[in-house]
Amino acid sequence: TTSGILIGRVGDFPEGEIRPAAMPDGTILAIYNVGGAIYATADLCTHGEASLSEEGILTGNIVECPWHFGTFDVTSGAPTGMPCTVPLKTFPVKVIEDGVYVQL
Ligand code: FES
Repeated sequence: TTSGILIGRVGDFPEGEIRPAAMPDGTILAIYNVGGAIYATADLCTHGEASLSEEGILTGNIVECPWHFGTFDVTSGAPTGMPCTVPLKTFPVKVIEDGVYVQL
């Protein structure tokens, strides 16, 4: 559908936290709640393939990868701290009523 892939309810994504979401093809995305707004990025750090949804630390809109302490802005995917230099892929998120949808 045009609304995207339903990944859960708003309450499944608590503020300040990161959760994984599986896409139909098995790909995992990392889903972040930043101050009540929900964002989606690729799950794997672009530096060394750590899982951000499992091991990332979210502070405001910045996720830190625990492997080598690189950081990204989850709202844009931009790398914000070394050694990460390649952006994370981001995906638009829509909240419709209580449903959270990701557009691939
Ligand atoms: Fe994420 Fe190296 S794997 S910073």
